[in-house]
Amino acid sequence: MTTATRPSDATCPATVTRLIIVGCGHMGLAIARGLLGGPPGPEIVVVDTDAERRKALAEYDGLTVTGELDIAEDDFVTLAVPPQVFADFADAERHRFTPRTPVLSVMAGLTSRSIAAALNTSQVVRSIPNTPSEVFEGMSVYFADAEVSADTVARAEALLGVIGKVLRVDAEELVDDATALCGGGPAFVSYIVDAFCRFAVSRGFSEEAGREMTVQVFAGTAALIEESGKPPMQLCHEVMTPNGTTERGIAAFDAADLGGSVVAALAASARRSRELASVMSR
Ligand SMILES: NC(=O)c1ccc[n+]([C@@H]2O[C@H](COP(=O)([O-])OP(=O)(O)OC[C@H]3O[C@@H](n4cnc5c(N)ncnc54)[C@H](OP(=O)(O)O)[C@@H]3O)[C@@H](O)[C@H]2O)c1
Repeated sequence: MTTATRPSDATCPATVTRLIIVGCGHMGLAIARGLLGGPPGPEIVVVDTDAERRKALAEYDGLTVTGELDIAEDDFVTLAVPPQVFADFADAERHRFTPRTPVLSVMAGLTSRSIAAALNTSQVVRSIPNTPSEVFEGMSVYFADAEVSADTVARAEALLGVIGKVLRVDAEELVDDATALCGGGPAFVSYIVDAFCRFAVSRGFSEEAGREMTVQVFAGTAALIEESGKPPMQLCHEVMTPNGTTERGIAAFDAADLGGSVVAALAASARRSRELASVMSR
């Protein structure tokens, strides 16, 4: 595994002149918005079959919006359609791809080999980004097999690097685990954040105050973990005065096996990613 760029160091590769994002829902738009807000980058074309969605996307300056896919020779294609529709997409659009068309998939579950076979291109980078990409705080994990050229890998990594941190893995199944941890992570964290906010409101804080306190606690803790380099449980113990208030709260977490529940939830999510691979074998 190798860690690549941080957002502040990232520049969009001049070699990608036109990026086509196929499927511009939550994830496709997060990527597009991240790229639009970054350093001058490629022309961005978004292709979406949903007419209402296209109308909404047309509001964004800098996006070319269309319902029809058309791939030119130097285009770089990002696939952000739901995995369940990919087989039909591939049947309908395969003829537009050449064996060297560079493809960055962000689709959960689908393996790089199955995507490559369905589109008849050898240049597939399989990644899993996440929605904080929209605010340059994304975490993307990707895999590329030996057939993918260094140029395609560099361009895919540079695109992902504009919208957050990037990690390359050399075993593709780790992308399924990263799909749980990084792709779904913002949902899991938001779920917990919501519980903090509900507690605040139940005790008489306004929704705004509850949100402000909670977000600052999460952001501050993430910054402390990163900058101190200390293990998370050490930081946990530093807050837990013996027989104090936090110790009582952690005891309630332990009684409910919260840690075990979180690990089980991530494992269930990763299993679902592996299951999704089978939607290709119809
Ligand atoms: N959401 C996340 O946080 C996240 C994170 C990592 C990866 N992903 C991956 O990103 C992909 C998209 O997820 P999402 O949450 O963004 O889904 P979404 O919000 O449902 O967006 C998908 C979009 O693609 C459109 N679409 C469907 N078929 C199409 C086709 N043949 N050509 C062009 N556009 C088409 C959909 O239109 P219709 O509504 O008309 O079908 C919809 O607007 C999935 O593969 C998912 O696994 C998502």
